[in-house]
Amino acid sequence: MVVQRDGIEKLPAYIQGKAIPNAVKLSSNENPYPPLDSVREAVASELAGFHLYPDMGASTLVHRIAERLQVRPEEISVGAGSTEALMQLIQSSAGEGDEVIFPWRSFEAYPILTQVVGAAPVPVPLQADERHDFAAMAAAVTERTRLILVCSPNNPTGMSVTAAELEEFLAAVPSHVLVVFDEAYAHFNTAPGAADGLDFFRRHENVAVLHTFSKAYGLAGLRVGYAVAREAVTANLRRVSLPFGVTNLAQVAAVASLDAEDELQKRVDMIVAERGRVLTALRDAGWHASDSFANFLWLRTGERTPEIDAALQKHGVVVRAFGAEGVRITVGAPEMNDRFLAAIAAVDPVRP
Ligand SMILES: Cc1ncc(COP(=O)(O)O)c(C=O)c1O
Repeated sequence: MVVQRDGIEKLPAYIQGKAIPNAVKLSSNENPYPPLDSVREAVASELAGFHLYPDMGASTLVHRIAERLQVRPEEISVGAGSTEALMQLIQSSAGEGDEVIFPWRSFEAYPILTQVVGAAPVPVPLQADERHDFAAMAAAVTERTRLILVCSPNNPTGMSVTAAELEEFLAAVPSHVLVVFDEAYAHFNTAPGAADGLDFFRRHENVAVLHTFSKAYGLAGLRVGYAVAREAVTANLRRVSLPFGVTNLAQVAAVASLDAEDELQKRVDMIVAERGRVLTALRDAGWHASDSFANFLWLRTGERTPEIDAALQKHGVVVRAFGAEGVRITVGAPEMNDRFLAAIAAVDPVRP
């Protein structure tokens, strides 16, 4: 029998949001709107060239991002989705015996990617109000800590981190520990006083920021995202990156999306408006639903989670259920959200 790495079979598998034929899929935090014509055209213009490898450094895209964010191109490392950029950050920071701290529950890739490199995951439970417990995260730092992940807005709970609490947290963290601020859902973040990752990156050498084209820009299927960090850090990110990981199709689509930010912002605004409408409808129906600053809502449904998940599926709506913790509902286009509200009307609410 083939011998593989010890314990590798114990890694939890990443679970993709379910898709069921004819059901409304609100399980993967995707953008419900189809690609813009200008983005389709950019991708179409590259189709004749995909027998060739892509530009490995994604130079046009990197320069455009640098210009947009007012950082240097050397401070950017692209990846096949921000998941790959996150993988680069973890791989280049932690190894066997090191520790990676993250809030929990949060993005499910955090513990998986940490264990892939042989490091120890240190999940720190969220507070009862679903916010990061920064005091506990700071207290969890040891001499083996190599990376700390902060997720704002947090997936799946939707809470945003404030600039004040991040500032205080960074003051408590040793400056040799890299703090990654994952802003996958930043475009949807309307929280007052929200921390802006780039502002912290500019002022703190040990801060890296993760951005993606999957959510607000609607390119989830093309896989492109990036990390912004000090040049000494990004040089190492590129060393561990997947060679040719970002296709030319993804690169031109991302550039075209940067050209179309105004048009895309209208979609973000519609999603944010729908988020408010659905949240109000849920609360009016008696549900205990926390605020959300992302493109999804979170219901802490506890032991009733499987029952509620099954009831919604029976009514043709697929959400993302997390064990006996809760359900995350992606905010879709209005008609998709109407179907969700109709489906959940058949369920006895979990009250505050
Ligand atoms: C918090 C967070 N970070 C990063 C990602 C990665 O997204 P992608 O790899 O599509 O950029 C996700 C995806 O769901 C996420 O929820």
